[in-house]
Amino acid sequence: LFAPALSVPISYFYPFPLFLSSSSHCSVSSFLIRFAPSESGLTHLAIHNKTGEVYVGAVNWIFKLSSNLTKLRSHMTGPVVDNEKCYPPPSVQSCPHDLAQTPNVNKLLLIDYAQNRLIACGSTSQGICQFLRLDDLFKLGEPHHRKEHYLSSVAESGTMSGVIISSPHSPTSKLFIGTPIDGKSEYFPTLSSRKLMENEENADMFSFVYQDEFVSSQLKIPSDTLSKFPAFDIYYVYSFSSEQFVYYLTMQLDTQLTSPDASGEQFFTSKIVRLCVDDPKFYSYVEFPIGCTKDGVEYRLVQDAFLARPGRQLANSLGISENEDILFTIFSQGQKNRAKPPKESALCLFTLRKIKEKIKERIQSCYKGDGKLSLPWLLNKELACINSVSSNLLFVLS
Ligand SMILES: *[C@@H]1O[C@H](CO)[C@@H](O)[C@H](O)[C@H]1NC(C)=O
Ligand SMILES: *[C@@H]1O[C@H](CO)[C@@H](O)[C@H](O)[C@H]1NC(C)=O
Repeated sequence: LFAPALSVPISYFYPFPLFLSSSSHCSVSSFLIRFAPSESGLTHLAIHNKTGEVYVGAVNWIFKLSSNLTKLRSHMTGPVVDNEKCYPPPSVQSCPHDLAQTPNVNKLLLIDYAQNRLIACGSTSQGICQFLRLDDLFKLGEPHHRKEHYLSSVAESGTMSGVIISSPHSPTSKLFIGTPIDGKSEYFPTLSSRKLMENEENADMFSFVYQDEFVSSQLKIPSDTLSKFPAFDIYYVYSFSSEQFVYYLTMQLDTQLTSPDASGEQFFTSKIVRLCVDDPKFYSYVEFPIGCTKDGVEYRLVQDAFLARPGRQLANSLGISENEDILFTIFSQGQKNRAKPPKESALCLFTLRKIKEKIKERIQSCYKGDGKLSLPWLLNKELACINSVSSNLLFVLS
């Protein structure tokens, strides 16, 4: 974990960088060969925590498999007559651009346990979502009449991520969504929390959890940032919730290393982002650079991650308890070439406890007036740390 001022990794680095080969996905690729129509690349996977049934998101399809990977159901989501420049989508208002059959890339696939349904968001129609019954993938709804129903039209999978937070006391859950925006900051927030209504037709579906004249449950990439760095975007690689927090692993243009001159080389950096679940105004937003080093070589491009508990052997070899949450992460070497990252990659392990300690330390030093909150992509809106507990930068500590 790189702290802003000092870049000392606190990771438990596995004894050797692990080079991944595609053969580690053999069961899924055999499913692809046997069942999937030829061009449907698989993009997401969700496993039901009780039945073990597997839901797979793909290009133009959603599949349901049994726990032994037998295909049980499939549901077609595309191609769709669309043009990514149409805002709003052509189904809502006619569009001046040429329409064509467009593949619908599944970008978000979440099991909504509270309502027994799957949320499957695609790339077409500015990123609208379908609700599918878990049982048989019957389509329960596809809200698309309001601005809030469009989440982002970026077609690249693995760049958008979401977490559902349900409450036992309320029929309305919350959906935290992080997404790249492809320069369209006037349409899409990069991070937001939305109401997840019980009824798919409810007009409030995906509306911001909080909204008044000045504040709402969203974070936008400032237009200043985009005019200085037109390619700036935030890619959300993985997300999870733990205790009262939602976390994201992101990759973004490193605005400190990259020159605004568009012909220059671009550098990227990975961050861990944290928000309090019960902070509808997003004041608790905090982000930190994250990466790892091995033999002096930096691995800074996060590719994927998974939060899990270690088995006994791993726990023993790391000297930690089997009950500790570990963030298993894959990073590619260096900071260049986000779209085609170097093959050299490493598996790095972080305990969630260490990540939380590091964030807490930083927030506490900030309260003492030390430095700045490290949000370089906000450019001149950088917030200095103020030596006061009563400032409106209210960070809630665990
Ligand atoms: C499955 O996940 C849901 C949502 O996170 C949780 O409420 C539920 O307790 C989990 N069930 C099991 C059997 O782990
Ligand atoms: C796999 O699961 C399906 C559906 O649950 C079942 O019908 C089938 O017998 C199972 N196959 C094997 C090889 O276990």
